[in-house]
Amino acid sequence: MSAVITCVEDLRAVARKRVPRLFYDYVDSGSWSESTYRANASDLARLNFCQRVGCNVADIRMDTRILGQPVSMPVGLAPAGLAGMVHPDGEILAARAAAAFGVPYVLSTVSICSIEDLARHAAAPFWFQLYVMKDRDFIERLVERARAAGCPALVLTMDLPIQGQRHKDIRNGLSVPPRMTLRGLSALLARPRWCAGMLRTSRRTFGNIVGHAKGVGDTLGFSEWVSRQFDRTVSWDDVQWLKQRWGGKLVVKGVMDARDARRAVDAGADAIIVSNHGGRQLDGAPSSIRALPAVAQAVGGRAEIYLDGGVRSGQDVLRALALGANAAFIGRAYMYGLGAYGQAGVARCLDILRRELESTMTLCGLTRVQDASPDLIVNPYTAFKQQGDHA
Ligand SMILES: Cc1cc2nc3c(=O)[nH]c(=O)nc-3n(C[C@H](O)[C@H](O)[C@H](O)COP(=O)(O)O)c2cc1C
Repeated sequence: MSAVITCVEDLRAVARKRVPRLFYDYVDSGSWSESTYRANASDLARLNFCQRVGCNVADIRMDTRILGQPVSMPVGLAPAGLAGMVHPDGEILAARAAAAFGVPYVLSTVSICSIEDLARHAAAPFWFQLYVMKDRDFIERLVERARAAGCPALVLTMDLPIQGQRHKDIRNGLSVPPRMTLRGLSALLARPRWCAGMLRTSRRTFGNIVGHAKGVGDTLGFSEWVSRQFDRTVSWDDVQWLKQRWGGKLVVKGVMDARDARRAVDAGADAIIVSNHGGRQLDGAPSSIRALPAVAQAVGGRAEIYLDGGVRSGQDVLRALALGANAAFIGRAYMYGLGAYGQAGVARCLDILRRELESTMTLCGLTRVQDASPDLIVNPYTAFKQQGDHA
């Protein structure tokens, strides 16, 4: 690696230099004013750890299970669309890094690499994320394709009946593949390493969709297509239907409310991801860490609970576990690593989190990751209220 990488922020800085502007901005932005995007990280940072001493921390164990699958640490790679545009063959590289590390990788519906292609090239089974779209035949086929690829879990994303507006994507004219206007082309040519990689790969469009969904051409105005295809009628009946159709482990993503969490479990969810889509959907929604305790309480152990949103360090992973999550999922953190150095960058990101988690556990006197509890945090339930905040 050409730069000194000490933390995820270092990976972000390199990615910014290496990824074409329109794809870097696609990753590093939230909807509208980006207040929820910022709150995800800043609320995590508000949680102070109880520093403990004299606890014999010679043997720290981070391995655990996620949905019954053994993992080396309680972290997963969240579904991220267009990873194959952030880095050529990005999904394959990220999935390989996750497999080498022993953590789950979730392939997005709107990935560049298709399910079948990833199944051929990944080193381990991966989870598949599904959006509910109007074309239900297409959804049924996607479910069967995920089954045929041996995916051990299906992640249903519920928080996208419409797409949140990201100003930068509009200004940049985001499309896949990028439109070859003079401005667009000069922005791509400013990133020669990326261009060379893209010329070497044939994966340059939505692999799960183009050629599989009706009426979808080769070049897609992303927002335009999303607004045409994504289904606003989605309800808990669809979740129940999907659970029956799929029959395997079902994870419901995008739950921020205790009432919705109960309905998700009643509809058959084996796990819930407390998530506001990384601040990319409802701007003004609370941070996901703030929503976590109430969701965990409502679920009461009937399903596993994961958190994503703003997780940039091992400290953040431990904060999520302390407030009730079984695992934390990362989005931008690994996408920065991917944009910076491909597979090695994702591996570096995971290694950074692992080391930070281990050190934080050590200094908090926690030897087994499964034993994380609110006791790790100073005033865990009033932490957000303390600093003049009345939420
Ligand atoms: C570039 C990008 C693309 C995303 N694409 C998807 C997607 O296709 N499906 C999905 O369910 N979530 C998607 N998400 C949301 C992530 O799964 C996750 O909820 C979010 O990134 C977590 O926040 P973090 O990036 O702060 O870790 C995307 C997020 C980013 C940053």
